[in-house]
Parts: sequence; C-alpha cells; structure tokens
Amino acid sequence: MDRTFCIAPMMGRTDTHFRNLCRFASKHAVLFTEMVHSNALLKNKRIDKYINKTDIENPVVFQLGGCEPSDLAEATKIINECKYNEINLNVGCPSPRVKSGGFGAFLMYEPSKVKDCLSFMSATSDIPITAKIRLGVDDQDIEKTLDKFIEIILKSGINTIYVHARKGMLNGLNPKENRNIPPLNYERVYRLKEDFPDIEIILNGGLSNFIEDKNKLKMVDGLMYGRFICEKPYELTKVDKIFYHSTDEMEIESLIKMMEKYLIKNQNLGLSGYLIKRHMVNFFKGFNYSKKIRQIIMSDNLDVDEIIKILKKKYLLVA
Ligand SMILES: Cc1cc2nc3c(=O)[nH]c(=O)nc-3n(C[C@H](O)[C@H](O)[C@H](O)COP(=O)(O)O)c2cc1C
Repeated sequence: MDRTFCIAPMMGRTDTHFRNLCRFASKHAVLFTEMVHSNALLKNKRIDKYINKTDIENPVVFQLGGCEPSDLAEATKIINECKYNEINLNVGCPSPRVKSGGFGAFLMYEPSKVKDCLSFMSATSDIPITAKIRLGVDDQDIEKTLDKFIEIILKSGINTIYVHARKGMLNGLNPKENRNIPPLNYERVYRLKEDFPDIEIILNGGLSNFIEDKNKLKMVDGLMYGRFICEKPYELTKVDKIFYHSTDEMEIESLIKMMEKYLIKNQNLGLSGYLIKRHMVNFFKGFNYSKKIRQIIMSDNLDVDEIIKILKKKYLLVA
C-alpha cells in the first residue's frame, strides 16, 4: 500500500459516505475509519454499525481501540474477513474515556503492553498491522522515551507507524485542546525516522499545504491530513496529481455526477440522503455561491445540472 497521502481517522467524520466521496476525488489517498473499540465488535450484535465499507473505498485502514491483546486479536479476525487493507491500533487518543479505559494515548506509558497488543493482532491477521501514536504524554521526556517506546513495540514485527507530531496531555486538556495546544514538533519525527530508517514513518499534525508539505517527504515516508481535508475536501482533487504523478485531472462536473449517482443508489436502498448530503455540502464549502449550492443539495430533488450551471459560470474558488 502506498501511504504517501493518508486521510486521518476522525470520529464522527470518516464514515463510509465520507470515504466514498473522498475516493471519487482521489483514486490513491489512503482512507481510515474512525476508531472502533474492540468491545464494540466483540460484544455488539449489530457490528454492521461499525463494519461498514464498500469495495470502491479501498485502500481503507480500520482503526481499532483497546488494550486487551486477546480481544484485539479476536476483533482483528473479524476485520480481516471484511476486506479492509490494514488494521491500525490507536495509541494517540487523549480523551478522558480513553484514559479511564487505559487505551489510546494512555498506552504511550505502556510500551510492553502495546507490543503485546500488536503481536496478538499480527498473529491473527493476513493484512498489515500498524500503530498511530503521539510523541509522548504528559511530562515524558520525549528525547528519551520515544525511541525506547518504538524499540519495544517494533518487537511485535510491525513496520509502519503514524506519528501525530505533538504530545498528548492526559491531565487538564480536552481532546480538542489536545489537537491544538501541545506544540507540533516535526523535527522530533524526522529524527525518529533517522534513528529507525527501515521503518515507515507517516507524519501527522497541522499539515495544510500540499506543495510545502511535499518537501517533508524527503524526511518521512508519508503524510497524514485530518482537519484540513474535513474543512476543504475539494482539495483532494489535487492529490493524485501532486503526490502520485497522475495525469488525470478530476473535473468538477464528473465529481458531482459521481456523487449524485452514489446518492441515488443509496436512497434507492432506503438510506436517508442526509447522511450523504452533509458530506457533499462540505465539498463545496468555500466556493462562491456555496450557500446556493447547499440549498440545491439539501432540497428534495437534487438538481445537479443547476449546480453545474452555477459552477460553469466560472465562479471562482474562494481561497
Ligand atoms: C473530529 C476529530 C475526530 C478524531 N478522531 C480520531 C480517531 O478516531 N482516531 C484517531 O487516531 N485520531 C482521531 N483524531 C485525530 C486525527 O486523526 C489527527 O491525528 C489530528 O486531528 C491531527 O491531525 P490534523 O492536524 O491534520 O487534523 C480526530 C480528530 C478530529 C478533528
């Protein structure tokens, strides 16, 4: 799997409909599910709520949360049967729920446990197992603790790690603050790659400029974008050209028509159009006349030709 450009796991955002629309815009970007706890898969009768994906979304990484090696191994078996392309263990989420459950970023304190979790998952998996981590947590001295942490978890045999380039503060900051307040430290991630050159390191945190960020690929193996893509999903239409040397240009008309087809197909299956339309509206946020486009998308009879007419008048993108 080519992990040059990845879209980060985001709870409440990266559902199957978001991923389908993203795939229309980029053939190559690696997509993630949001985090699902192993218990949700093992103890819930309706796992279709969590395992929900179409083949056209591939490559898709399923992100698991949890800290019980045998539960994670069982959950891994289920995910393997459902045609995902990779399973990623969340070692970076700093929410209070995660802290009290001893998983997510709390696991940055427990490298041996992480190694066990990843080893158990690998033992029941035919697809790659990876981890998404922070640089450290709380008052850890990341100059010392990070390399040690990596050394230990690599004993599980994994060889790809996504690094959110800031610490997580488990005391005093909520998840949103934890994505903004601890300072970004890309240099530390670059040094990690120097120390472990054989491991694939994907950089995450605060990335928002494709052309500038592309230079970072000299120091790391891939880039992971979260909020930037949520805020400006239309930017995804540039990804294949910039990062994957594609010569195909995604025309906005074709994009809208693909979205319309997807919407109609799902509505014919009885799904509420709103679940898809909320993501569609987002794709055209930031365009001039986006309010008008939003109205058309949200109306009962989506008139795609009308949207195309508006866009054809060459209303320009607002920067
Ligand atoms: C709404 C939201 C939900 C998130 N949910 C998850 C999650 O389920 N699993 C995870 O590992 N990270 C989650 N994150 C963190 C992102 O994956 C990413 O690490 C973080 O936003 C930093 O990247 P960015 O600056 O490009 O947004 C979430 C972030 C946001 C904004």
